[in-house]
Amino acid sequence: MSQAKVILVVLLMIGGFAVAIHLFTATIAPPEGESVQEGFNMSRPRAPTEARKMLNPFPRSEEIVKKGEVLYHTKGSCNVCHGEKGKGDGGGGAMLSPPPRDFTDPGFQMLRTDGELFWSTKFGISGTGMFSYSPRMITEEETWMVIHYIRSLNAQATATPEGDA
Ligand code: HEC
Repeated sequence: MSQAKVILVVLLMIGGFAVAIHLFTATIAPPEGESVQEGFNMSRPRAPTEARKMLNPFPRSEEIVKKGEVLYHTKGSCNVCHGEKGKGDGGGGAMLSPPPRDFTDPGFQMLRTDGELFWSTKFGISGTGMFSYSPRMITEEETWMVIHYIRSLNAQATATPEGDA
């Protein structure tokens, strides 16, 4: 390879690296006007207030939880980041900041209603590695099933719209 070509390749590599760094930091930046810590604090809602009121159209049953569990691990690929048992420890999420939510955390279960989980799965959470997964990966109906599975991971603590009154 001539010297000019070597220089060109090196420059391209540096350029590519700079672009990659930019894309990566752009994804992990917290919402505008917030410090990193405030932005990622779990007590900050991830969905608008009206999403809180949406109700899961499926009554909870063992069958639906089972269907949700299968979708979580197959079609939805939620396990890749949220982990096999929902602990937020999936290999795909290891480098993400903020990290994928730990669905077994009672604090999380107490803060969020089903509607908020639905919203985040449908629209994603901007500025984080949580992208929009419905209807791209799973249908809206399937999303509600996955939410029943997520709830089953810590059934004692669950926020409901009724609890807001
Ligand atoms: C590429 C990794 C990745 C995948 C795959 C992924 N998530 Fe997430 N998810 C995240 C991250 C990161 C967060 C934390 C975002 C935050 O703190 O705002 C998150 C947060 C969430 C939340 C919590 C929002 C809240 O209210 O706190 C829900 C619900 C959720 N994901 C559902 C799902 C479902 C359902 C799937 C599968 C269809 C899925 N995620 C797949 C990365 C992922």
